Amino acid sequence: MATDLGMGQPLETALSSCVVSMRLGEALGLEAGTLRIAYYYALLRYVGCNGHTYAMAALFGDELALRRDFAVVDPGQIPEVLELAARYVREANAGESPDRMAAIVASALSELPGFMHESFAGHCEVAQRLAGRMGLDDSLIVCLGQIYERWDGHGLPRGLKGEEVAPAVLLVALAQDAVIWNRIGGAEAAAATIHKRSGGAYHPRMAERFCQEAASILVDLDREPTWDSVLAMEPGGHRPLTDDEFDRSCEAMADFADIKSPYTLGHSPGVSALAVAAGRRFGLLEADATMLRRTGLLHDIGRVGISAGIWGKQGALSEREWEQIRLHPYYTDRVLTRPEPLRRLGNVASLHHDATAGQSLSATARVLAAADAYHAMTEPRPHRPALSPEQAAEELRREARVGRLDGDAVSAVLAEAGHRVPRLRRERPARLTEREIEVLRLLARGLSNRDMAERLYLAPDTVKHHIQHVYDKIGLSTRAGATLFAMEHALL
Ligand SMILES: [Fe+2]
Repeated sequence: MATDLGMGQPLETALSSCVVSMRLGEALGLEAGTLRIAYYYALLRYVGCNGHTYAMAALFGDELALRRDFAVVDPGQIPEVLELAARYVREANAGESPDRMAAIVASALSELPGFMHESFAGHCEVAQRLAGRMGLDDSLIVCLGQIYERWDGHGLPRGLKGEEVAPAVLLVALAQDAVIWNRIGGAEAAAATIHKRSGGAYHPRMAERFCQEAASILVDLDREPTWDSVLAMEPGGHRPLTDDEFDRSCEAMADFADIKSPYTLGHSPGVSALAVAAGRRFGLLEADATMLRRTGLLHDIGRVGISAGIWGKQGALSEREWEQIRLHPYYTDRVLTRPEPLRRLGNVASLHHDATAGQSLSATARVLAAADAYHAMTEPRPHRPALSPEQAAEELRREARVGRLDGDAVSAVLAEAGHRVPRLRRERPARLTEREIEVLRLLARGLSNRDMAERLYLAPDTVKHHIQHVYDKIGLSTRAGATLFAMEHALL
């Protein structure tokens, strides 16, 4: 989902291309091992796509729009590629005199082959590194080194030819173009394009088979819930992640997001570490610390849906550009809608710039927002130098005073960052812990144990345990408490 954003494609493009790859692969009778590689490769093909985007935006302006347009061009058709590049260079330099414009365009086009080589090699390298960190198989990593290779040998970066290119790479290249052209003009347009490029970008046998069965291979592509179809199709069955592997994948995803701009390198792991430490100081339990570690790593994944040109712009941003930047937590939320464990992280992660984060029901969201704010302020940005720790602390306290951040969360973050803060824990009534107060709030709103567990990201048994503690501490019998809260809820 995040690579779709980074490639300027509608969400679920990669999922759809996985479905088409599997349907075509089966029609071709590819063996199970190849299908499994193609399955993962279709989903992760562009995992290195954020590398080099900064340079791309500097040359062409909006690299996401360029990528969207580039996706429908056959890179083997040099005149089409040059025309597209020239159009973007002209737009990026609008307002220059005709003479100067001609010189800029000429120079950009002469640099283009070298630039493409470097960018494409860079994407492959980043993709391979991230896939390695996610613990994926070597055979998949080989494919990620061939993203831009073609059947006819005119691909990049190595110019592999024919059977030298992995079958999964050829299959998915075709499938993805089929998805894009199907969206433009239905199965007929997809078949026409694939036919035209057969023997160029694609394996002729794969192209022929696709054209024979295009209608059934593309059927219902935009109607079915793609996520479910993709899950149901995994060749060889699911391979669930262990907790450690999940953490490592989150770390890889953090780097995937942070390399979108040279200013944000290391941002997400930094926020994650600070949030975890502050969360412990805040009195959160181990389950929350895990939650904070992962949301810290994933909170900015939506950044990739906004042009690197905007993230790297020196000087004031226009209103339109601000509008784009404001979308990034929303994109984070959309990317992390499924599966369930990621949705829970997304719910918290997407609040990290929210003006209501200061009063959010969830302590993890409050701590994450404060940690992100502090960490970001102490990093340089193109339009401002890094704030000193003192300035950042002052700024954070101001945010707490106006209610945009939670005062206790700010104190925990500042203490963790080495600032002197007044004694953190204010006395809670009946010595209730932070967590127990959250439980009490939800009890008073009449939530069932199950709903509470969902809201607080806890196991139902843990919730029951907390409720028992709350009742004990405030001196109510379980029965009296339940009746009281049920009455209160009914009256409210
Ligand atoms: Fe952010």
